[in-house]
Amino acid sequence: MADRRRLIVVSNRGPVTYGTDEHGELVARRGAGGLVTALAPLVTRHDVTWIASAMSQEERELAASGPVEEQAGDGSRYRLRLVAHAPEAYRLYYDTIANPVLWFVQHGLWDWMVDPRADLTVAWRDGYVAVNRAFADAVVQELDRDPGAAVLFQDYHLYIAPRLVRDRRPEAVLSHFVHIPWVGPAAWDVLPSEIVRTIHDGLFANDAVAFHTERWRSAFVESCGAFLGTAAAEGPLVTACPISVDPEEFEQLARRDDVRRRTDDLFPARPERVILRVDRTDPAKNAIRGFRAFGRLLERRADLRGKVGMFALLHPSRLSIPEYEAYAAEVERTAAEINERYGTLEWTPVTLDLRDDFLLSVAAYRDYDVLLVNSIKDGLNLVAKEAPLVNARDGVLVLSREAGAFDELEAWVVPVDPFDVENQADALEHALELPLELRRSWLASIRAQVHAHDLDAWVAAQLAVLDRASTMRA
Ligand code: F6P
Repeated sequence: MADRRRLIVVSNRGPVTYGTDEHGELVARRGAGGLVTALAPLVTRHDVTWIASAMSQEERELAASGPVEEQAGDGSRYRLRLVAHAPEAYRLYYDTIANPVLWFVQHGLWDWMVDPRADLTVAWRDGYVAVNRAFADAVVQELDRDPGAAVLFQDYHLYIAPRLVRDRRPEAVLSHFVHIPWVGPAAWDVLPSEIVRTIHDGLFANDAVAFHTERWRSAFVESCGAFLGTAAAEGPLVTACPISVDPEEFEQLARRDDVRRRTDDLFPARPERVILRVDRTDPAKNAIRGFRAFGRLLERRADLRGKVGMFALLHPSRLSIPEYEAYAAEVERTAAEINERYGTLEWTPVTLDLRDDFLLSVAAYRDYDVLLVNSIKDGLNLVAKEAPLVNARDGVLVLSREAGAFDELEAWVVPVDPFDVENQADALEHALELPLELRRSWLASIRAQVHAHDLDAWVAAQLAVLDRASTMRA
């Protein structure tokens, strides 16, 4: 067992969200998203102060009273420090810069022809920089309280906070894990050069920077060379290590009665074969092309009509951003179009479920024949690891070559090219026809891979990198 460390974890979304119950009492619920689930074991094994944005009125009020002691699901205690930002600054940071700019550029979604956000200067300065500065102030205060603690920044919301901390606390141990893809210099060229340079410089101020795959790692080294002109050896230790899940947690979840009940609820009249997808309604997840691919398959294989159903569990996401709202509407239109064209009174080709219910996702994981993950780009994609762990039907994973998880799992999946609808129709057809023996052995291999490289191993690897990086600096 590794030694207990003092860690300061910094992420935009916190491990819990606060709201009020029917009596007006403050209640904490588990925060949404893969990142928070993945970082949960840190709290059990180490002394953690977690810094995150206050996202609601309740959280802003809580932030004003200073850090609170919170309790994780397993009873471990940690300090939570919520940072309250001015609402307009947060809007510019999240709704203008972090998601439709950084997320879009890094997932190949940037609209090169129209460039809808030509003038980013104000949103950058008054939103992204202001919010990063508030995070940096909180980190500095925590470091003053505990100068030996190591700082673990997370993701694309916080690219420049490390520089803002480093300038004030040169001795601090700083690391950053980027959970989304990194892209080469040409993709960054769509943004003003000063913004691009500041992003790279911000990350360069860390002792260690990590990504899920070697692809994203080498793109980062290349873009640092292009924009900072710095040799990789002079900068942080840059590593690649794919995040994972806790297999036991998923195996236990799948055995719960409330999960089994949800399976019945999801499939009241189950078709012979189920193609499943579980995603947020994010354009990067590519749900529309997935539906179109299924439509193509039904077009050419009339014998599959009435027998195969596509189930799409899509949690609405980031709907305050116009591009996301428009995409979510288009997802619904496309599903309706396919149902109108091929559906019958007895059979609905595409079932769209927009409930945000984690246990429903686990229920669906148990019961698919084919799991479709056709992301345009994905830092990793945790669904590709979670679902095979609990699937009870020898299900086949159809996986985008552009998902980080592909690098780890490619020997046991049917690959797809995210822009090629015809190729995705072929892949779905192929997956439905794979012999049982092969399906079984692929599923077993994916499970073995996830068990051998689980979340504990990932956390241990991150801390080992931090040790290496701080030794190199000493
Ligand atoms: O790395 C991407 C990520 O941060 C995931 O951890 C998470 O599922 C998703 O984005 C959530 O995004 P948001 O906080 O904008 O809802």
